[in-house]
Amino acid sequence: MTGELDLVREMLGRDRTPFLPDVVWRSTAVGYVRLDRQVEPAAWQDAADADCVLVTQWDDGETEDTEGLPTCSASLPSLVEQMLDATDIREGHSVLEIGTGTGYTAALLKDRVGDGGCVVSVEVDAGLAELARGRLRDAGVDVDVVRGDGLLGWGAGAPYDRVHVTCGIRRIPAAWLRQCPDGVIMLPWGTSLSGERDRILALRTKNGVGVGRFGDEVGFMKARSQRIGEWGDWPDGDDTVEVELPLRAEEIEASVEAYGGFVVGLQLPRTTCRLTGGGEGERVLWLRRDGVHASIGFGEGHRTSVEGDAGLIRDYVGAARWWLDRGRPEPGRFGLAVGEGEQRVWFDAPDGESWKVSW
Ligand SMILES: C[S@@+](CC[C@H](N)C(=O)[O-])C[C@H]1O[C@@H](n2cnc3c(N)ncnc32)[C@H](O)[C@@H]1O
Repeated sequence: MTGELDLVREMLGRDRTPFLPDVVWRSTAVGYVRLDRQVEPAAWQDAADADCVLVTQWDDGETEDTEGLPTCSASLPSLVEQMLDATDIREGHSVLEIGTGTGYTAALLKDRVGDGGCVVSVEVDAGLAELARGRLRDAGVDVDVVRGDGLLGWGAGAPYDRVHVTCGIRRIPAAWLRQCPDGVIMLPWGTSLSGERDRILALRTKNGVGVGRFGDEVGFMKARSQRIGEWGDWPDGDDTVEVELPLRAEEIEASVEAYGGFVVGLQLPRTTCRLTGGGEGERVLWLRRDGVHASIGFGEGHRTSVEGDAGLIRDYVGAARWWLDRGRPEPGRFGLAVGEGEQRVWFDAPDGESWKVSW
């Protein structure tokens, strides 16, 4: 495994071992495996040295339940490298990190800005902030760790040349644009319909307006106040009606699965979905937006039926049809333009077709 350690070190210039807690969870093909450094030091070290995600907290630290919500991790080293490179961090820069987590990325940011630059990292979880502060201090890395809501940024250190965000975002806070008016804001961004799947977004800011194109798919823990939330109970209803929808079964599936959910979600702000059933049987697409619900029952050989809010069904069908009729364009053809109080999605080019969206 020495080879793997060399690989991660060579890739990022720093070993992540000093930043990891004694207990981590490694994701494997059969689920998460709990590794305790005191019990299995070799397996723990292999994981620390590997190019893999290591979960370090569940349910905001309330459980160790791997069926629960992972709420902190040491991110995938190769992805960290990709995001840092795309953020174009240079010596002497002033950088704001959102989501300190283990403190490892903060140390890498400091490596890049050098003695002449500075890094402030904001972490919402008091316990994690304290641990990261201690680890950075022990490693001799000069980073200012602040406990707070990163969605407010950190005004005391502004302006920043770069903002580097390591939690998933759905609504870009105006504070980041004010605090980094001319620079780069790097973040994982997703639509509500795309669920856990986010896209890398490097917003280049000029005079407080950020413009960027969606990049590769990533999965990041969501910012605390922007989590998608529990799906909850579905209201009972018996108003199912059979309808003719201008969508085939395969088209409905594609519109919410893989990258379809991300792109169709660009036209359906605040809308979440679930797809159930499968195989030979009927499938159901469940939709929810602003407290209203709708569902579509469909499947090869089944009559299509709908139930619930007619406006939500109409908006979903319109958004899905728009995407299908354009030949299912991929996320890389879209981007965001964000200014104070306004967020626009653009298609193909920032000055091309665009629409305002409120998330
Ligand atoms: C994927 S982890 C960050 C990984 C980290 N950069 C590292 O190197 O270990 C996401 C972190 O974002 C934090 N977080 C979530 N919402 C936040 C918010 N509103 N403000 C600041 N931090 C937040 C979580 O507590 C968690 O520690």
